[in-house]
Amino acid sequence: MRIKSAEFIVSNQDVSKCPDSKLPEYAFIGRSNVGKSSLINMLTQRKNLAKTSGRPGKTQLINHFLINNSWHLVDLPGYGYARVSKKERKTFQNFITAYFEKRRQLISAFVLIDIRHDPQSIDLEFMRWLGENQIPFSMVFTKADKLKPKAVIKHVNNYLDKLKEDWDPTPNYFITSALKKTGGEELLKYIESINEELKA
Ligand code: GTP
Ligand code: MG
Repeated sequence: MRIKSAEFIVSNQDVSKCPDSKLPEYAFIGRSNVGKSSLINMLTQRKNLAKTSGRPGKTQLINHFLINNSWHLVDLPGYGYARVSKKERKTFQNFITAYFEKRRQLISAFVLIDIRHDPQSIDLEFMRWLGENQIPFSMVFTKADKLKPKAVIKHVNNYLDKLKEDWDPTPNYFITSALKKTGGEELLKYIESINEELKA
């Protein structure tokens, strides 16, 4: 898919205020600092469409972007960020949960996972919750540039082995690096193929 246009539409904390539209929507979520906003900028080939930061907790709202006037891409706040207050974290959790439960336009989520780390229970639990709520998702391993190619394969296989405890088949996945700009084309192709199916 060629990105001809990508524009920011709206930010909010309330799913009922998300764009009133019938366009298919894809949401990016994962732990704080995993590289969601960087991935979105890579996919859309815009340097600063989504705000990135070295400090976790940058994205605190549901951010809608309109791509090629035909689908919405959504940047969500990171979960599991310890340095915000308990109350703030609860607010986050509530509106993210409401988003996934209520947003009818949501076609699929992308759950981002930092490829360097062993499987973390917060990610495994979140994916289990998506599964229980029948919300389709793919995994996106991020920061692949931080490992040598062999280690990339080893870490992915290790992750899939862990997932086999919960999943059969294991979820679909992509391997990406926003720094090296790799893995984005496959991901966009995947979104495009679903969008085509929806139109048919
Ligand atoms: P929050 O909005 O705070 O939840 O974070 P986020 O998930 O949107 O992460 P963000 O894109 O802001 O990136 C966090 C940090 O990781 C930044 O310092 C990025 O430069 C870095 N980063 C993101 N993607 C990559 C990548 O593919 N490779 C490398 N080496 N660094 C990356
Ligand atoms: Mg962000």
